Amino acid sequence: MSEQTRVAVSQQQMRQQHQYAQMVRTLLDQKLGPQRYYHIRTYGCQMNVNDSQKLAGYLEQMGYQQTGDETRADLIVFNTCCVRDSAERRIHGHIGQIKALYEQNPDLIVCVCGCMVQQEGAAQALQQRFPFVRVCFGTHNLYAFPQMIFQVLSGQKRARSIIDAPTVAEDVPVVRDGVCAYTTIMYGCDNFCSYCIVPYVRGRERSRDMAQILDELRALRDQGVHEVMLLGQNVDSYGKGIDGASFDKLLEQADQVGIDRIRFMTSHPKDISGRVLEVMANSRHICHQLHLPVQSGSDAILTAMNRRYSAQRYLQIVQQARALMPDIGLTTDIIVGFPGETEADFEQTLDLVRAARFDSAFTFKYSPRRGTKAAQMDNQISAQVKKERIVRLIALQDEITAGVHQQLVGTRQVVLAEGPAARSPGQYAGRIDRGVTVNFKSQTDVTGQLVPVEITQAKRNTVMGQICPQA
Ligand code: 5AD
Ligand code: SF4
Repeated sequence: MSEQTRVAVSQQQMRQQHQYAQMVRTLLDQKLGPQRYYHIRTYGCQMNVNDSQKLAGYLEQMGYQQTGDETRADLIVFNTCCVRDSAERRIHGHIGQIKALYEQNPDLIVCVCGCMVQQEGAAQALQQRFPFVRVCFGTHNLYAFPQMIFQVLSGQKRARSIIDAPTVAEDVPVVRDGVCAYTTIMYGCDNFCSYCIVPYVRGRERSRDMAQILDELRALRDQGVHEVMLLGQNVDSYGKGIDGASFDKLLEQADQVGIDRIRFMTSHPKDISGRVLEVMANSRHICHQLHLPVQSGSDAILTAMNRRYSAQRYLQIVQQARALMPDIGLTTDIIVGFPGETEADFEQTLDLVRAARFDSAFTFKYSPRRGTKAAQMDNQISAQVKKERIVRLIALQDEITAGVHQQLVGTRQVVLAEGPAARSPGQYAGRIDRGVTVNFKSQTDVTGQLVPVEITQAKRNTVMGQICPQA
């Protein structure tokens, strides 16, 4: 039974796409020989990272190899985000820079996809401004990527495919990078927070079948994956409209699969159930980490945002989670300068941040998005006030983060090593169960391994550790 709007892509449609991928492969073998390269630039959230891994899966089926150097690429994909104006402007800048590469190589296939393109009229505007963009498609069409590449390779000047119907496609190939695998459990969002463009570009909520998700987890376990992140815009809504499915049940069963670590994001304070917290607390493998965006500490602003919880309710959830899991790592998202936000409203946000003591917070200046309710509100806040508030908020959170890190010093933790640390030669970086990143020295390459570490020092943004000799 399914009440939700869910357009499943049929097995036959998927078979067709795999055939297109093979036809592209044959065509390109004749045209370019066996060596051809792709480069993907991903913007925005983990959902986009996961989508890019699927695009990579298709591209490798077509015989392309990945390159980090876009000047070598035969095909470049921009997988875009439009959640804030700053992201859109940056992406436009980057696409503009590709013109020079296209002029040197007119066979270069430039594709732009993702959330920015899904907005009404965006694809046409984009191809007008950047005529060298050959392929444009929205979030619901990713599954048909091989067909679009085939179309442009067989002579069509451009392929553009933006549909309104939200889809759920299984069997899209995936190229995973990094030690943490992503598994999308649900797509879209029905919440319509008044500032947010996501429900418009990702469509209505639809969940994958629990059996498919669990099969995928078992396959990842058999491949030796140590950590999986379950993804959804609002994971607590998982299973709505599917008999017998709910997020707590999914977590319970996912825990049984035997993958070392399972994380999930993003949760919504209005939907998260006590049962989910209990399952986390009683599980063996669900990490004690919760990303729970609060957005504001003022009830007036939360109401205007259409968040449907109060600051007090939020803090209750925090308390409940900490009572069950004293070691839980809490992170959040906060927007400053939402229309009508007074100094007193903002101070309530600072108060909530002091009370919740987040491990870390993603902080954003409110950015009006066309088509959303908040963009039409007439009490918009000036850029200067937004800037001043975000600086104060970041300073407070930095102080709290430093305190949380300090409390970890002297504890023993297990780190899943993700690879060499970006800015510290000779060191590796990885995360502990609650999500905090730890840097530590190792003589051998420990990437992908679970390493016992003692936390020795707290730095501003990271924590230092030492491998425990025996543990
Ligand atoms: N302006 C600023 N931040 C936004 N977010 C979503 N929409 C906007 C917007 N219009 C933030 C929210 C959300 C995170 C992913 O992005 O905090 O949780
Ligand atoms: Fe956007 Fe709100 Fe949905 Fe999150 S829950 S994606 S902020 S509408």
